[in-house]
Amino acid sequence: MSESFIPYGRQSLDESDIQQVIDVLRSDFLTTGPAVNAFEQQLCRCSQAPHAVAVSSGTAALHTAYFAAGLQAGDEIITTPLTFAATANAALYLGAKVRFVDVDPATGNINPSAIETAITDRTRLIVPVDYTGLPADYDTISTIAQKHHLTVVADAAHSLGATYHERPVGTLADMTATSFHPVKPITTAEGGAVLTSNSQYAIRAARFRTHGVTRDPELLHEQQGPWWYEMHDLGLNYRISDIHCALGVSQLRKLESFITRRRQIAEMYTQQLADQDDLILPVTPEHCQSGWHLYVIRIRQGAARRKAVVEYLHQHKIGVQIHYIPVHYHPYYQQLGYQRGSLPHAETFYDQCISLPIFPAMTDDDVARVVEQIKLALQVTW
Ligand SMILES: Cc1ncc(COP(=O)(O)O)c(C=O)c1O
Repeated sequence: MSESFIPYGRQSLDESDIQQVIDVLRSDFLTTGPAVNAFEQQLCRCSQAPHAVAVSSGTAALHTAYFAAGLQAGDEIITTPLTFAATANAALYLGAKVRFVDVDPATGNINPSAIETAITDRTRLIVPVDYTGLPADYDTISTIAQKHHLTVVADAAHSLGATYHERPVGTLADMTATSFHPVKPITTAEGGAVLTSNSQYAIRAARFRTHGVTRDPELLHEQQGPWWYEMHDLGLNYRISDIHCALGVSQLRKLESFITRRRQIAEMYTQQLADQDDLILPVTPEHCQSGWHLYVIRIRQGAARRKAVVEYLHQHKIGVQIHYIPVHYHPYYQQLGYQRGSLPHAETFYDQCISLPIFPAMTDDDVARVVEQIKLALQVTW
């Protein structure tokens, strides 16, 4: 029997998820209904963030958070190039500029000591990305932010459910943007959320999500009748439907068990690959519990051998991926003037990295098969 393809990530859905979605389809509200509120409340409970504003994607969550923080044309954000382009793009949508700073080669997370030198009088936001599900160094980053009166927006697309000094993701930054894409810690198919303890940010985020419209009597400039509403900001339709949120409610109940299984898989990889001298395996600082969205190995010899290993694994039905092509490599960013060679640790990381399959439904046998194929790939590419 030929062996099946193992993807690098995939959703875990069961009958209870399906039933919740069916229930909404039979209900009165497909959008702006009770499932959205229920999902937001549950997000608050599991992240310990006092406010959650659910939106239509992780990208929308970043855009909404940056807007809520007051990011404007001419401002700057500081972030890492080792991320999906959306982290930076969301600043460009608002006319702001992106300053990429280098990563810590041990973790792939933004290097806090590189942040301070990149701050200018236009800097407004620091945007750490919890790469692979490992929280960035928030204590150091928050100290820098406070000193320079900056706002921290965490890109936590990978890290819902992770902790830093036993504090959950959602409470570590001024605002936290999550993603619920199918490979992420939980899924709503497409979706995201802004988590915050700041009620003003939450109000601005909720308004931005729905065209910048308010019905709050305290904010209205006039009141012509019960139909009256006013548009105060140039927002978007970033609403998430009740169908998506019903799935989210059901998925959130399983977040802990999903992360437990991801952690087990990560431990198996770490044990079973420990004897491979050509690999650099991920490290988790003691004060962090990673969400293990990704398990990223690195091939010491770099780009050419990494490519050969990836090709071998693909030929043998192991769906490895690369996270990430540094954002400043993309032609769009190149034509804005960003230079290759400017961020050596991130660029070396990119040359070496391979994301192995990791998702809650992966079996121990799947893990063993991935490990066996990696060992063979390392032999045949030497
Ligand atoms: C680090 C990071 N930020 C932002 C996003 C954007 O999330 P979404 O795909 O939900 O828009 C992603 C998704 O891949 C991501 O990995």
